[in-house]
Amino acid sequence: MKVQHYKATDQNPNLNDYDKVYENFNWDEIEKNFSWSETNKFNMAYECIDKHVEDGYGDKTAFIYKNDDEKSTYTFKDMQIASNKAANVLKNEAGVEKGDRVFIFMARSPELYFSLLGTLKLGAIVGPLFEAFMEKAVKDRMENSDAKVIITTPELVGRIPVDDLPNLEKVVVVGETDNNDQVDFNAAFDKASEDFDIEWLDKEDGMILHYTSGSTGQPKGVLHVQYAMVQQYITGKYVLDLKEDDVYWCTADPGWVTGTSYGIFAPWLNRATNVVVGGRFSPESWYGAIDELNITIWYSAPTALRMLMGAGDEVLKQYDLSSLRHILSVGEPLNPEVVKWGMDVFNLRIHDTWWMTETGAHMITNFPAMDIKAGSMGKPVPGVEAAIIDDSGNELPANRMGNLALKSGWPAMMREVWKNKPKYDSYFVGEWYVSGDSAYKDEDGYYWFQGRVDDVIMTAGERVGPFEIESKLVEHPAVQEAGVIGKPDPVRGEIVKAFIALREEYDESGELKEEIRVFVKEGLAAHAAPREIEFKDKLPKTRSGKIMRRVLKAWELNLDAGDLSSMDDD
Ligand code: PRX
Repeated sequence: MKVQHYKATDQNPNLNDYDKVYENFNWDEIEKNFSWSETNKFNMAYECIDKHVEDGYGDKTAFIYKNDDEKSTYTFKDMQIASNKAANVLKNEAGVEKGDRVFIFMARSPELYFSLLGTLKLGAIVGPLFEAFMEKAVKDRMENSDAKVIITTPELVGRIPVDDLPNLEKVVVVGETDNNDQVDFNAAFDKASEDFDIEWLDKEDGMILHYTSGSTGQPKGVLHVQYAMVQQYITGKYVLDLKEDDVYWCTADPGWVTGTSYGIFAPWLNRATNVVVGGRFSPESWYGAIDELNITIWYSAPTALRMLMGAGDEVLKQYDLSSLRHILSVGEPLNPEVVKWGMDVFNLRIHDTWWMTETGAHMITNFPAMDIKAGSMGKPVPGVEAAIIDDSGNELPANRMGNLALKSGWPAMMREVWKNKPKYDSYFVGEWYVSGDSAYKDEDGYYWFQGRVDDVIMTAGERVGPFEIESKLVEHPAVQEAGVIGKPDPVRGEIVKAFIALREEYDESGELKEEIRVFVKEGLAAHAAPREIEFKDKLPKTRSGKIMRRVLKAWELNLDAGDLSSMDDD
């Protein structure tokens, strides 16, 4: 198929000479944008909020929160006060100290952002949890990181298995609580002091712990440090193209890395107005938000864009979307049709960006100043070196498919997989960080995503590990064994599909499928529940008993399953 090219725009004149950015790029120079380059006093929350107040931007709008008809607006000064109060609540009522793990488990609301910034002001490590997580998902993550405090809401507090978490000292509830062991956040917040002495940190001190999935084992805690801000700041400037007057909306929830690196840090480090829209997706609410708030920069994901595309022109025409000047996408392959749709309806290019929880910030993107080849993720950002390598770490020439790898040493790189050094080490081949994605690079240096090398599933932009779902499935009394794969889907990219062998006493039925689906949904998370279940008499396994997902996938796609010599076919 012919690749469609879309010419560079002149939206950022400073970047129009794309190659110049590279020539002059040097991380040490970027550091000079921060006062800590002289004082050595690090704190992400300070750089996001207080610094701007000190620089005279206290009255500028920092944050707009919208949910249905509710809308609240906060200046940088308001955010400074609110995050100070939240820090005081967490310190005085919950005993939070530097280095503690503080989880935040709630739907998007202003308090989520106040308490996240407050946690950072205390020098504690934030663990954001997606609101859809159910008891097991919450427990595994909090247990692994010995979380000391969790901030949540009355709707979700019942999913925290307090008795199974010996290190958990305090549950902070934003909303009504009549449990005296819990902290009533709102009551304490109203009384809290507006002043707070920020805890100054070292650049390598822990900042945020995002749990993410691989193909084996429980989710891993990916730790990012304060220093990540250097890259989050500069990619916010160069890739998101954030400028003083922008009204920026990142649609991701802070339970996922996009919702923190680019839903909190990058916009506020760049002093932009950051919009958060709560509630569920619908074309009306999303287009409505752009129209009402005059969003200028919009960062979203292919599944949402495909849903909007599918919703058609009728709904689109009801809104004035002319405020938009820059659109970006992340999380899954961005289809050329969607890029074309973006040109047709917004007269704007949709800029794909590629990165991972582990990388902490953008790695490969389409810059405003680059020509876009629809279907390509773009090129490495300045300061990042990428390559396609074979399994031994040798670089492959152009147009050869292989492992997408990055040369170690960018600022936002994870520093640790929590309590799991072998897992951390397993990412590397020599000096290369190996992403787990396969891709190729064309003769112009553009990267083209081909798929995951492992069994990780990307569904609607969310990364789910088959192992976590399989473990939950086998807890159901009817399930003897289970294998989970991602099945290609035109809207969601992939959907979760489970192959299940039932215990002898159980008969296959539609009701049982539904019961098993609900069991995962209510025990683990809605997005992890298999949309499709297929019963099998037995599942393909290796002689050592490991389920061969590769064979399940081949069954599903009617492909040749390849080398089956390790399969146990008794
Ligand atoms: O497979 C790639 C896919 O998402 C994975 C990372 O998932 P996660 O850590 O949840 O982070 C998602 C958002 C930062 C990658 O290994 N992925 C991410 N961006 C793209 C992508 N696949 C194709 N195109 C992208 N632009």
